[in-house]
Amino acid sequence: MRILGVSGSLRESSFNTSLLRAAAEAAPDGVELERWDGIGELPLYDEDLDGDDAPESVRRLREAWSAADAILFATPEYNGSVPGGLKNAIDWASRPKLEAVLRNKPVAVVGASTGQFGALWAQQDLKRILGIAGARVVGTEIPVSRADERFDNDGRLLDGELFEQLRLHLTTLAAEAVAAEARIAA
Ligand SMILES: Cc1cc2nc3c(=O)[nH]c(=O)nc-3n(C[C@H](O)[C@H](O)[C@H](O)COP(=O)(O)O)c2cc1C
Repeated sequence: MRILGVSGSLRESSFNTSLLRAAAEAAPDGVELERWDGIGELPLYDEDLDGDDAPESVRRLREAWSAADAILFATPEYNGSVPGGLKNAIDWASRPKLEAVLRNKPVAVVGASTGQFGALWAQQDLKRILGIAGARVVGTEIPVSRADERFDNDGRLLDGELFEQLRLHLTTLAAEAVAAEARIAA
């Protein structure tokens, strides 16, 4: 089972990217979490660019997201919502509508912010956006507040309870991916 981890932050020392690294370590047996970091290469969504000869970066996005059994998104919160770059990637992944790579794709969200609400609004918005794009959104939000206190200087997670929450989250996501596969096979 291959789950793709997509961080909504482009920042080198991003807490959300660190959260995905922790999730990769927390993954249950049989589940591999691999990070995808192509968000910064994508052009702004433009219907005129979207067709059989879509930009190379968009083709790579669609191939990678399509090949994954499921996707775990880790989002920061920018001004109360999802960062524009992540929304842009989802817009590309939501078209063409009937063959979109997000259609029926099992997805889950987590989020970290340095504030006290742990990117909760961003995660709620992200779940709504992913649902509208046709994905199968599983699990609840995991708000990681005061992210600057949760990781050591090397970006390693210090919070054992959160580590277990990540493991449970991935277990739920993997189970949905198995169920989705069974529905396709039936
Ligand atoms: C443009 C911008 C807007 C932000 N808005 C919020 C916000 O609305 N809520 C919040 O909790 N943190 C906000 N923050 C702080 C982020 O939570 C913090 O920078 C966090 O570390 C970003 O995630 P990252 O470490 O994965 O890059 C904002 C940061 C930036 C740069």
